[in-house]
Amino acid sequence: MIIVARTLALAATLALATACATSNRSGDSTLYQGLGERSGIAKIVEDLLYRIVEDDRIAPQFKGIDVVQFHTNLTDQICEISGGPCTYTGRAMTEVHEGMNVTETQFNALAEQLILAMEENQVSTSAQNRLLGRLVELHPDITHR
Ligand code: HEM
Repeated sequence: MIIVARTLALAATLALATACATSNRSGDSTLYQGLGERSGIAKIVEDLLYRIVEDDRIAPQFKGIDVVQFHTNLTDQICEISGGPCTYTGRAMTEVHEGMNVTETQFNALAEQLILAMEENQVSTSAQNRLLGRLVELHPDITHR
């Protein structure tokens, strides 16, 4: 009897976990659509990269990075967190930014360049704000590491 009850409890937990995973992943893809799906996001990230190189506040940190890897991973990350059908396979944010000592000013500078890159690609203000809201959640894992 105890085993049956435990099995039922486990099944209920798994069902709940699956339901949550489903609603997070495929429930709302309006932000993903608003960013132009994966190809639109890839273009935004490409434009962001050009902007980073031109921005003295952050460019030095990015010297010598693997640009192709950065582009693929940031595109996948934004695709995934915007509700798209991608899986981010890069390193954890804490690990990537370890030892960089990214300041608040630098975090804001990158966010500013991302906004301009989204503007350039005709992303609506509401979609811009929704993405920024999700990226801000990563702030503690990126700054002062
Ligand atoms: C919203 C803010 C940010 C997000 C979402 C973000 C995300 C990422 C992602 C996804 C990668 C690629 C990870 C990988 O290839 O495994 C990366 C790499 C990197 N990030 Fe950030 N980042 C942010 C802010 C910053 C800031 C403000 C700086 C410095 C000014 C910075 C410096 C770097 C550098 C230098 C790399 C390359 C590291 C390497 O390849 O060794 N990031 N970031």
